[in-house]
Amino acid sequence: MIAGNRTINYLRISITDRCNFRCKYCIPASPFSVIEHKKIARYEEILKITRLACELGITKVRITGGEPFVRKDIFPFLEQLCAIKCLNDISITTNGALLTRKKIEKLISLGIKRLNFSLDTLKPEKFFQITGRDRFQEVWESILASHELGISPVKINAVVLQGFNDDEIDNLAALTIKYPFHIRFIEYMPMGDSAIEKQQQMLTKDIQNKIESRFGKLIPVKKSLNDGPAKKFQIPGAKGIIGFITPISSHFCSDCNRLRLTSRGTLRPCLLNNYERDILNPLRNGASDDQLKQIILSALTKKPSFHNLNDHTASSIPISHMTSIGG
Ligand code: 5AD
Ligand code: SF4
Repeated sequence: MIAGNRTINYLRISITDRCNFRCKYCIPASPFSVIEHKKIARYEEILKITRLACELGITKVRITGGEPFVRKDIFPFLEQLCAIKCLNDISITTNGALLTRKKIEKLISLGIKRLNFSLDTLKPEKFFQITGRDRFQEVWESILASHELGISPVKINAVVLQGFNDDEIDNLAALTIKYPFHIRFIEYMPMGDSAIEKQQQMLTKDIQNKIESRFGKLIPVKKSLNDGPAKKFQIPGAKGIIGFITPISSHFCSDCNRLRLTSRGTLRPCLLNNYERDILNPLRNGASDDQLKQIILSALTKKPSFHNLNDHTASSIPISHMTSIGG
């Protein structure tokens, strides 16, 4: 599928808006309700949409939430997803709290070799402050178990917040010396009604400075084909990779190759723009495969070539929170 000058081959599928965590940068500050079950796309519906998207050129899928592993019967779903022939890359974003060794082994046996964990701190008490849950140990153990069992790469996403975990940037980066992890530092994206203040946002150049002042100049790592938006580096001699995800300080829309399917069954061409196109109701109302494919293609024509998160005067700050879009 082509949008502008980009080839879209990557579909991110959010299978639930529910999460067992309450990360302050992700969950709205005001009370919010979860989506009714009947409005959530059923697994067979997600699989059907994915198969059609594959016929249009999608080869890569990432499963997200909320937290994907809170949804019942995820394993039979993953099994069917892995059976879709044209998909050659299936990965999952998770907070890791519900992942046991056994489940990781099962993922590997299905052919899922890549996992992204969310982990912003290595201190259990801070972990509790940011996620609202006292689960650091389980998460850290599931990260280590993934590595031991052969998940590769193990990616770790850390949202950097001034005055919260900026003092841990170097220690998080140091994990790449011991382990072949990809540690990705993410600039906080203001998502409207959030408990995190804009002043806590920390930009990549300051994050990189902190790392370089301890480990010396980072070595740029070449991007491979179909790489995501992270700018990649290495500490000299390290096993792993340091990535920077820079939605604020540098636009990456022009090389964004992804489309999102939300748990409500809408297609969202851009994370940072509230345009969504319903595909679930047409599917439930008996639309033909060709009509559904047209919906997918027409959603892509709405993929913007830039976003305006940097423009603080703009009134278009996204109102949806990550937990409902899937990050
Ligand atoms: N800004 C930046 N990253 C965010 N995430 C969630 N909310 C935000 C935000 N406001 C990221 C988390 C997680 C992924 C699912 O989304 O790091 O890894
Ligand atoms: Fe935290 Fe991820 Fe859950 Fe959001 S979806 S609350 S970032 S664990």
